[in-house]
Formats: sequence, structure tokens, C-alpha cells
Amino acid sequence: MRIPQIAFGLMSLGLFSAVASAQGGVDASAPYKNPSLSVEQRVADLLPRMTLEEKVSMLSGSGWMESTGVPRLGIPEIKMADGPMGIRLWTGSSAVTSVEGQVHSFSSTAFPAGIDVAASWDPALAREEGQAIGQEVASVGRDMILGPTVNIQRTPLWGRNFESYGEDPFLSGKLAVGYIQGVQGEGVIPSVKHFVVNNEEFERHRIDVEVSERALHEIYFPAFEAAIKDGHVWVVMSSYNKVNGVYAAESPLLKQELYQALGFKGFVISDWGSTYSTAGTVNAGMALEMPGGPPMRRWLAAPGPKEAGNDGGYLASEKVLPLVKDGTIPVANVDENVGRILTVLFESGQFDHPHVGGVAIDTAAQRAVARKIADEGIVLLKNDGAVLPLKPSKLHSIAVIGPSAATARIGGGGSGLVFAKGVVSPLEGIKQRAGGVQVRYALGVAMQGEEGSSDTAEARKKLLDEAVAAAKASDVALVFVGYSWKLETEGHDRPNMDLPAGQDELIQAVAAVNKKTIVVFNAGDSVGVMKWIDRVPGLVDAWYGGEEGGNAIADVLFGDDNPSGKLPFTFLRKLEDSPSYGNYPGVNLHVKYAEGIYVGYRYFDKHTETTPLFPFGYGLSYTSFALSKLEVPKTITGETTATVRVTVKNTGDRKGAEVVQMYLGDPGASVDRPVRELKGFERVELEAGESRTVSFAIDRRALSFYSTEHHAWMAEPGKFEVYVGTSSRELPLQGSFTLVK
Ligand code: BGC
Repeated sequence: MRIPQIAFGLMSLGLFSAVASAQGGVDASAPYKNPSLSVEQRVADLLPRMTLEEKVSMLSGSGWMESTGVPRLGIPEIKMADGPMGIRLWTGSSAVTSVEGQVHSFSSTAFPAGIDVAASWDPALAREEGQAIGQEVASVGRDMILGPTVNIQRTPLWGRNFESYGEDPFLSGKLAVGYIQGVQGEGVIPSVKHFVVNNEEFERHRIDVEVSERALHEIYFPAFEAAIKDGHVWVVMSSYNKVNGVYAAESPLLKQELYQALGFKGFVISDWGSTYSTAGTVNAGMALEMPGGPPMRRWLAAPGPKEAGNDGGYLASEKVLPLVKDGTIPVANVDENVGRILTVLFESGQFDHPHVGGVAIDTAAQRAVARKIADEGIVLLKNDGAVLPLKPSKLHSIAVIGPSAATARIGGGGSGLVFAKGVVSPLEGIKQRAGGVQVRYALGVAMQGEEGSSDTAEARKKLLDEAVAAAKASDVALVFVGYSWKLETEGHDRPNMDLPAGQDELIQAVAAVNKKTIVVFNAGDSVGVMKWIDRVPGLVDAWYGGEEGGNAIADVLFGDDNPSGKLPFTFLRKLEDSPSYGNYPGVNLHVKYAEGIYVGYRYFDKHTETTPLFPFGYGLSYTSFALSKLEVPKTITGETTATVRVTVKNTGDRKGAEVVQMYLGDPGASVDRPVRELKGFERVELEAGESRTVSFAIDRRALSFYSTEHHAWMAEPGKFEVYVGTSSRELPLQGSFTLVK
């Protein structure tokens, strides 16, 4: 964006006739106030009207969740809310701080975790979610939601895996685009985060990530690229960490990758306290430092624990202005950054129609979206002897056991946690659905870190005995385990993949007395199940299902909904199998992504000596599907796009959805490439007996790798393999085509 030049152009067109002096009031007919002019024209008109002080004031926030406006010119502040799985509580103008101890005046819909959306493999549903969240944000008079989170799952231990869309960049990108379009369609500003390689919480303010140019382009950038190129996202949030030695908020990647390579027209916002310099940050193109103003100053001055290196406060006017005056920060850089913020204010409609609030929050329609996501995302991992679905007509009693049965685990912890009214626990959902079937409840073991009666050995034994007795007396035992928002959270990684204290023992004790034991768990990534998986016939991954999670679990357990979710990551047997193992969390605040592009299934398909417990894309169903009639073109020439077609049929006796997945391989490539990579998918809902033909478009980019020799994407002529199936390891249909120069 070359704003000053455009401004001169407009002046010569006479559009500047209404320009008032920079200090004076502004004529109501000033061109920038005219919505029928283009955004570029409006920015070009407005920017020269601003004093340097006004422009610099816009580079940092005025509060904890507010940017700085310029009332003299009618420039509004941007009022934000966390994000991404609904609106995190906030009070008043600047009070969105911590989860605990805050009074909050409304409750918003708690949507399921991002990983739940990812498991639905349904971008249209992500769009519905974005739309519902956008409506809620506008309803409470806010303008921006801090999401979606698109950082890739590199290690199963990352504390924010639950917020993300999994391990695959293509899937993450498609879902991010859906969410962004939904939010932006409501005139609300999303903020895709965190750019970039924020894949662990360990020392997130100080860790330096060493990552190759190729891995950045093939694994860590693409979801941001999709957000920008396909979603036309308005804001990108930079991350806390360093990337190859430079903090993300002052990295040359902002200009090189976002602005130049991807043509991003919006602005980059910092993460909260992710700035570590003044001139370096402004000159790098980081437009808005958050938080700012008095809350930031108070917070910095307050005694008490802060994450090491959590600085911020660098873009306050008193710090920036002297550096502009002495030329360390060129005025053109200030103009560019402010111009980007103005661009978003105009583009989003916020300048012309500020959000004034309303009442459409936590409505039945919004709750219905939350339930749909929770339903679609649940993944059935094991179902021996068709132990599921439960058939009330054949059951007398069900034991509902575990620390996550009566307490709904709606989300992981941190800025993404939403507090909602009317939260439905699995126990409530099941009781409501069970009809005449007797439901026996037992806690079994208290959640680690939560109040419970597990303080003494006797109390723990009593709880366990009660659970065993309930399981013994019932036809089926459902055990609800997993993490709480305190144990899987932003700010900390999980120490290992183990379930919280006492949960393995609970499952084993229950399974010993009831052959029909089904384990349902809440987590954002792989958990250790090897100690007992062979002893239970049923295993269900319920993620963090938001406020409707308990109903969704009942829907799936009783077969009102067919489980159709698919794993958006590779489920590990043990931590040591992770491709990042040995290179996590790093040494001396330095972590090397030594696995390069071999993240997730890309690694396991290459190193076949290590087998995942459940592969990427995997998930069972109560019905069955057959794929047939794969049509693959013989050749693809030059820039042409080709289409692969396949027919999917529901061969079972009930309605359900299958996620048809297409992977491509380039065995003859001149560089080392993954065996296959996801390049197309579609979630298809079919009645029993129904079939449909699914088409996947293949463009040149789908065939390309990122060449570090040419610093560009390259597709090499030759033979490409096409694999179509229902997981990265269940690929019954295969074909090939030749790319001709
Ligand atoms: C998180 C962001 C969040 C921000 C504001 C940060 O600590 O990393 O994702 O949006 O806080 O709460």
C-alpha cells in the first residue's frame, strides 16, 4: 500500500477540496466519510488529515481490549473480545483479564473447542460458527474476535492444541477460511493467530524457534495463507516467540511473507505483550500493540507474577514519537501501519456502522450451532462388538462414572475459555435421553486439582468402590475422563500424555467388573490409553464440547446421531513416537524443528517402523460406506486445473456422514517429499443406501513443493499418485496422472 502517493493522486482529482487543517474540525462532507468511495480513496483522504501525534497514538491500544480512536476525526476505537470459541467474559470497557475473580454481566455461547470443529472436517460448519460468534460479538457492542487459532499441532503436549485445527495445514486453512468468512459476514473483525510457529507454551515469550524455510512454507504458513488469500482476513495476530532469532512481532516475515508474498492488506496486531522493541516493531510493519493505555501501564507496574519476558508497552506514544522525530522510525512506516488499521475500519464497515450492541446472544439458534459442532466432531475410536450405540429397549441400567460425567468440560483453559449459562454435562444429557433406563452415577475419582473427596487414601478408595459397585450393577459402564481447563491450558504445556491422576486406575477397575465399558474422554490431542485400551470395547473422543457437549455425547452414544468425526491429527501410542520428540521443548530457550516438513502423518507415512494408534483422518461410524468409480485425468497440462471424481455410498442401514479424503503423492520429485499429502476432502451426509459423486479440484499448487533453491512453489512434471479413502491409512482407491509441462 503506497498511501501518500494515492493521496497526491486524489488531491489532483480535486477530492481534497474539503480537507481541513490537520488540527481543525472536519467537514461532514469530507471524502473519507463517504462510504461510496473506495477504501483506498478514503484512507488516502483521511491519513493526511491526521497529526503525527494522532497517527502514533493509534499504534497502541487504549485499554486491555480496545485500540485507540481519534474522536476529532470520527475514527472509532476497535473493541475486542477473546476468542476464538465464543466470547470470553469481559466487563466494562477494559476488563477482560483472567478467568477467575471477574464479575461478568452476560454469558455467551460456549462453542466447542477448535479441535472439535477440525474433527468435523466441515468448513461450512466452521462458517456457521463464525457467523454465530460474529453475531454475538456485535450484540455485546464489540467489534473484533481474537481468533481463529491456526497454529499447527507439532507436539501432543502443546497446551493450546485444543484451540487449533490439528496437524494438517490444508485442513486448518479450509476451516479457518470458513470461520473467518462467517465472522466477517457479520461485519465483525476476526484475527487469525498466532503468526507464527507458536506451537508450544513452554517459555512462549522467550523461546526461539529454529525452523527451515521449507517447513515454514509447507507446514506453518499455509493456514495463514488461506486465511489471507481465500478468507480475505482483515487482521493477523503475531505470536510471542522468536522465529529464527527474531521476535515474531518484529520479524522480517511480516513484510516478506504477509504483505509482499501473500498481498495482505489488513493489519498485524501483537499478541498481548508480545512486543519487545519500539523502532524494530514499528519498522517491521507491526501495526497495533496490545494491550495499551492505563491498563497496560498498571499491569506492567503491578507486583506479582508475570511470564518471563512478557514486556509490551513499547509502542506508547511517548516511546514512539521521539524516534519518529529523530528519524529512527520513518514517518512513511507510521503511515503504512496506521493506513492498514484505517483500511480495516473502512473495509469492515465499522467506521460507518459502529457496533452498538443488541440482544442476540446465547440464542437458541446459536446454541444449535454449538450442538451441531459438538455432534459432528465426536470421533468414535473403538467400537468392538458394536457396543455402541446404546439401545434403551435392551438396557435396564447404565453406570455413568468419572470426574467429567457430572461436570461439563466445555473448553480448555486460557483466553479461549468461555463461561456460559445452561451448560449441559454428559450426565444430564444422558439422563434426559435414557428414558426409562436406570442411570447410576459415581464420581470414581476427583479431577486432579479440583475439590473432591480424594484427599485421603480411604476417601479415594471409597470413591473407587462406589464406581465399581455402580459398574457391576449396570448393563453398561460409561467412564468420563480427560482433562480440565486447568490441566490443558494456554500458558502451560501438558507434562506428558498421561490422563490426570487416578483416571487410568478408575478405568481399569471399572473394566474389570463390566465388559461393556465405554471410555469417553475430553482432550485436545493424543492421550495415553495403552494401559487399558485392550480391556474396553468402546472409546470415544469428545474433545471439549462447549455448552451443548453433554447433549451431543448423548446424541452419539444413543445413536440419534451417527458419529462422523475424524481425527485431525495422528493419535500416538506414546509420547516418544511424536516426530518432535527430542526436539521439544528445546534447550536454552532454543527449539529446533528438526523434523522439518515431517509433521504428523507426513512423518508416520515415511517412518513406517512407528505406527500410530489411530491415523490422521480416522474415525468409526455406526453405518458403513463404500467408495467406487475413481476418475482421474490421464494428464494435467501447464496451469490447467483437473478434477478427480469418486462415488461414495452409504452401504449401511442408517443415515450418516463420511469424510472422503484425497491425498496426492509425487514419488519422482527431485526433492524429498512426503509420501502423500491431503489435498482435498469433503464431508458427505448420506441416507442409508444413498450415494453421491464427490469432485476434487487439483490446481498447480496442490502439486507443488516449496523450493528453497528458487524460493518459490514448484510443480515438477512427471507422475503423481492419487489416493482416495476415509483416513490417511485407509485409501482403497488409487490412480495416477502425469503432469505435462
Ligand atoms: C493469547 C491470545 C489472546 C490474548 C488476549 C494472549 O495471551 O496468546 O491468543 O487473544 O492473550 O487475551
